[in-house]
Amino acid sequence: MSTLSEVEPQEHTILIVDDTPANVGVLADYLEDQGFRVVVAQDGEEGLKRAEFVRPDLVLLDVMMPGIDGFETCRRLKAAEQTREIPVIFMTALTDTGSVVTGFGVGGVDYVTKPLQVEEVLVRVTTHLSLRNLHKQLTAQNLRLQQEVEDRQRAEEALRKVGEEQQSLIRKLQEAHDQLLQSEKMASIGQLAAGIAHEINNPVGFVSSNMGALQDYIQTLLDLIDRYDDVVAQVPEGQGVLHDLARMKQDADIEFLKSDIVALMAESKEGLKRVKDIVQALKDFSHVGESDWLEADLHHGLDSTLNIANNEIKYKARVVKEYGDLPKVTCLASQLNQVFMNLLVNAAHAIEGEGIITIRTGASDGWVWVSIRDNGAGISPENMNRIFEPFFTTKPIGSGTGLGLSLSYSIVKKHGGRIEVESEPGKGTCFTVHLPVHPETES
Ligand SMILES: Nc1ncnc2c1ncn2[C@@H]1O[C@H](COP(=O)(O)OP(=O)(O)OP(=O)(O)O)[C@@H](O)[C@H]1O
Ligand SMILES: [Mg+2]
Repeated sequence: MSTLSEVEPQEHTILIVDDTPANVGVLADYLEDQGFRVVVAQDGEEGLKRAEFVRPDLVLLDVMMPGIDGFETCRRLKAAEQTREIPVIFMTALTDTGSVVTGFGVGGVDYVTKPLQVEEVLVRVTTHLSLRNLHKQLTAQNLRLQQEVEDRQRAEEALRKVGEEQQSLIRKLQEAHDQLLQSEKMASIGQLAAGIAHEINNPVGFVSSNMGALQDYIQTLLDLIDRYDDVVAQVPEGQGVLHDLARMKQDADIEFLKSDIVALMAESKEGLKRVKDIVQALKDFSHVGESDWLEADLHHGLDSTLNIANNEIKYKARVVKEYGDLPKVTCLASQLNQVFMNLLVNAAHAIEGEGIITIRTGASDGWVWVSIRDNGAGISPENMNRIFEPFFTTKPIGSGTGLGLSLSYSIVKKHGGRIEVESEPGKGTCFTVHLPVHPETES
C-alpha cells in the first residue's frame, strides 16, 4: 500500500491552467524545484488540449479565465473518457461557499485560494496524488481480485463438470454391470433349465407311456371283474365260496375302486401333462430346439397364435387388431410366436370380467414393432423391475410358472430387439416388442 509520503514527484506531471503569468511562474518554478514535471496552459481550451495530450496526473485549474471558465473546463475534463480520472484542484480568489460548492459539483477534488501559498499547494497536490495512487492501486487490486474470483469460478465449474461426468460414468458402469449380471443370471438359469428339462424329460417319457399301458391293463382287469360278476350271478345261491366272494367284494368296496381308479388315472395324466408343459417351457427358455432363421410374416404368426390362444382369451376379452404395413422379418418364427402367446395370455389373465386386447403393428427405419395392450389390472411399480425375472409370478401356485416373460425377453434379445412395458395399475398394460427387420443372426 502506498502512503502519502510515497509520492515520487519526478514520476508525476502537473498541468497548471491559469491566465495570470505571474501566478503561473511562481507556482511552476516551485513545483519543478520539488521535482514535478509541470505543463502550463493559458486558458480553458488550451488546458483541455494539453490534458488530452500529456495526460497529467493532476490539474491545478484557475476559475476566472477568459473564454471558458474553470468550472466549464473541469466539466469537459470529467466528460471525456481519457481525462475523467485526473484529479482537479481549483485555484480561486473567491472564497464564497457558492463557488466552492460549484467546484465540487463539477468534479473538483479540492481548492486553494489566491494569493497562493505554494507550500500549501504542494501539500494538497501531494495529498491528492497520493490519494489518486491509492485509488489506482485499489482499482488494480479489485480488478485482480475479480479476475481471481472469475478464475476460481471457472475452475469450480470445470471441477463440477468433471464431477458430473464421473457420476454419469459411474451410473453407466453400474448399469452395464447390472445388465451383465442379469444376462449372466439368465444364461446360468438357462443352463440349469436345460439340465433340469433334460433330466425330467426321460422319466416323464416312460412314466407317461407306462400310464397308457397301465390304463389298458386296468381296463382289462375291470372288464374281467365284470365278467366274473356276470358268471357268479348265474350260479345258484347258498354255496359257501360264493358267500365268501360276496363278502370280500363288499370289503374291498369294488364299486368305489372302479370309479376312483378312472378318476386317479385322469388326474395323474393331467399332472403328467403339466410336468411336460413345464419341461417344454424350460426347454424353450434355454433355446433348445429350433435354429432356422426365416423371413416371416409377423401378422401371420400373430393370427395363428391368436387361434391357439383363443381358448384362453375368448371368455375374457375382445381382440382388436390394428395392423400396419410390415415387411417380412428375418426371425425364428415359432419362437416369436411363443412371445406373442405369452403376451396375449398374460393380457387375458390380467383382465377381470370382460376387457379389450388391442394388437397394433408398425414399421420404421429398419425396425418393426408389435404392441399388445390390455385394459386389465396393470402392474404395480414394485413389481415392474421383476416381471422379466425367471420364476417371478403373482399368479396362484399351479397357475403360472413365471417363465413366460423371461423366456420372451431372451427370445427377443436373441433377435437383437427389445421389449418395452408401460403400465398403470387399474388401467392396463402395454407390452411393445421392437425387432430389427434383418437382425445379425448367430449362425
Ligand atoms: N399384461 C399384464 N398385466 C398385468 N400383469 C402382468 C401382465 N403381464 C405380466 N404381468 C405380471 O408379470 C408376472 C410375470 O409374467 P410371466 O408371463 O413371466 O409369468 P406368469 O404369467 O405369471 O406365468 P407363466 O407365463 O409362466 O405361466 C405375472 O405374474 C404378472 O404379475
Ligand atoms: Mg405369462
